[in-house]
Amino acid sequence: MQSPIARGRIARLDTAAAAAAPGVLGILSHLNAPRLPHLKSAVYEEGAAIQTVLPLGDDAIHYVGQPIAVVVAETWEQAQHAAALVRAEYQPGQVRGPLETRLNEAYPPRPFFGGITADYARGDPAAALGAAAIRVEQTYTTPVEHHNPMEPHAAIAVWHGAGELTVYDTTQGAAWSRQGLAEALELAADKVRVICPFVGGGFGTKGGTWPYAILAALAARHVGRPVKLVLTRAQMFTSVGYRSQTLQELQLGALPEGTLTAITHSSTSIGSEVGESPEPAPEVTKILYACPNLETHLRLVQLDLGVPTSMRAPGEAPGTFALESAMDELAIALDIDPIELRLRNYADTDPASGMPWSSNGLRECYAQGAECFDWARRNPRPRSMRDGRWLVGWGMATASYPTHGFPAQATATITADGRAVVRSATADLGTGQYTVMTQVAADALGLRPDQVKFELGDSDMPYAFVAGGSSGVRSVGPAVRAACEAARAKLLRLATSEDESYASILARHGLAEVTGEGSVDEVEAADGHRVNAFGAQFVEVRVDADLGLVRVSRALGVFDIGQVLNPKTARSQAIGGIVWGIGMALLERTAIHPTLGAVVSTNLTGYLLPVHADVPAVDAFFVDVRDPYVNSLGAKGAGELGITGVAAAIANAVYHATGKRIRDLPISPEKLL
Ligand code: MOS
Repeated sequence: MQSPIARGRIARLDTAAAAAAPGVLGILSHLNAPRLPHLKSAVYEEGAAIQTVLPLGDDAIHYVGQPIAVVVAETWEQAQHAAALVRAEYQPGQVRGPLETRLNEAYPPRPFFGGITADYARGDPAAALGAAAIRVEQTYTTPVEHHNPMEPHAAIAVWHGAGELTVYDTTQGAAWSRQGLAEALELAADKVRVICPFVGGGFGTKGGTWPYAILAALAARHVGRPVKLVLTRAQMFTSVGYRSQTLQELQLGALPEGTLTAITHSSTSIGSEVGESPEPAPEVTKILYACPNLETHLRLVQLDLGVPTSMRAPGEAPGTFALESAMDELAIALDIDPIELRLRNYADTDPASGMPWSSNGLRECYAQGAECFDWARRNPRPRSMRDGRWLVGWGMATASYPTHGFPAQATATITADGRAVVRSATADLGTGQYTVMTQVAADALGLRPDQVKFELGDSDMPYAFVAGGSSGVRSVGPAVRAACEAARAKLLRLATSEDESYASILARHGLAEVTGEGSVDEVEAADGHRVNAFGAQFVEVRVDADLGLVRVSRALGVFDIGQVLNPKTARSQAIGGIVWGIGMALLERTAIHPTLGAVVSTNLTGYLLPVHADVPAVDAFFVDVRDPYVNSLGAKGAGELGITGVAAAIANAVYHATGKRIRDLPISPEKLL
């Protein structure tokens, strides 16, 4: 049972009819549920929860879809039937309307994600803007979006006595999920085990501990039996976060030949009473171009909605839409080719920290992308390319994502048969971690991939942080490698010669197995270098001049992710990211009723996602870049980079095709008419 109102109180809750329904084992509501603590926030503290205020604590309603009762029954159908018999009366409050009407209530978030501050400045942007020969000043907006993984969130909670709990959860981090569950249920972390060997898509929504898993554990304890709780597709729109709407104001100041002299970038996103997760859209602006005078601002407006969360390239996805659209507008104002404008402002070192890049192949991405796309043939004049009733346009934008480093540990066990089992509590959300970590381990051990078994997704395994922020290859990779090297070194010390087999060494010493441990700690430091992955996105669109329909007819992404560990899985990530970008640019938007605060269409009919017919033959490849600093593999991450820049490249192509600049996503047909 979920609240249909966004704000107010539960005036009366009657569960008697539901309790008497066939098969019902128990009902939890604020009338009988234990009071749970407020959780530490994954955004602000070393917590595992995004939603810090848990449901069933009292009669207060904070958002549409807030759970007000959990009905447990013998079968799913019986539970559904009984839930429909729960009677609730509400005392509704005044719902705080859309973000754009409440900007006077905006407030700065406190520092989050290990140091992102609400306000940042270098140089004197106000003076530099005042003196600039050319200025671009625009507002760019992006809507609420949902992650929509095909696998909904689900949990099976099993208590072993009163004090020990196993949860089969859908999570991007088993150890992370365990931490949130332990905190919510006030158990020691070692009394909770979370198991999740496979994830059917995550994209950030499975990065934190959400109430459904905690409710499953509470319900299981209440009825004294294992309980399975699966969110419906509709509940996926109200229960596990979303990407916040952003309202971004950008100012660029430049010299006539294109040198940027000033940038300001302010972004406002959604705050919530049950948690806080700012969308760090201006982060990319701090580092992408060599601009001496720059300031960024982040603000939140509290609305009566659930808490937003990270979604594939949080910050960079909407941030690059605004920045890279504005750069295109500047290129047009100055009559400079968009790639040339970017090269004139190329950041040879990180302009925010002054640190050198661990590696930077962006120049090669521009050059090889332009060559492959045949960019030189582009006539810069809008509406200059036509094919029958189709207006054709070409656009480009820069891609950028930091690929974060997080703590990771692994063990490698070489067994008597000469094979190896390697473990880390990370996750494979369809990204290829199983495959790639098997390769890394096989390589370090000198074994064939089929002789190595890589296991993940169990909080009892060596700790790994949530598989997010494109951190898997960057952080788990070197931990796996170190564990394998440690195991190999242990055995080689016992060997008679360099090429004695593992099986023979173990047999001669009467050992069943030998285990090595590996860990990665201060990976963010990268030996005094700033780590960032880069790319260049190129897009051709065809716009129906009469109907305003936009079709992407060609898309090419060229990326620098350092060493490519597996060309197939990396390319799949890149292409998947570009497809996401097509959805973001042209289709995706969660409509929220302005006065009711409710998601209007809680289904995949009302939420448009790209399908095969929307996606052309997307191409993606990687430039060859050595990165001696990021880690022992020379590999940056690939998971989130691919979406960045795509929406801007499409908006820029739409401008080139039509002469119309759309600054509000998605670029739906009515905006072009
Ligand atoms: Mo990702 S949005 O950091 O799981």
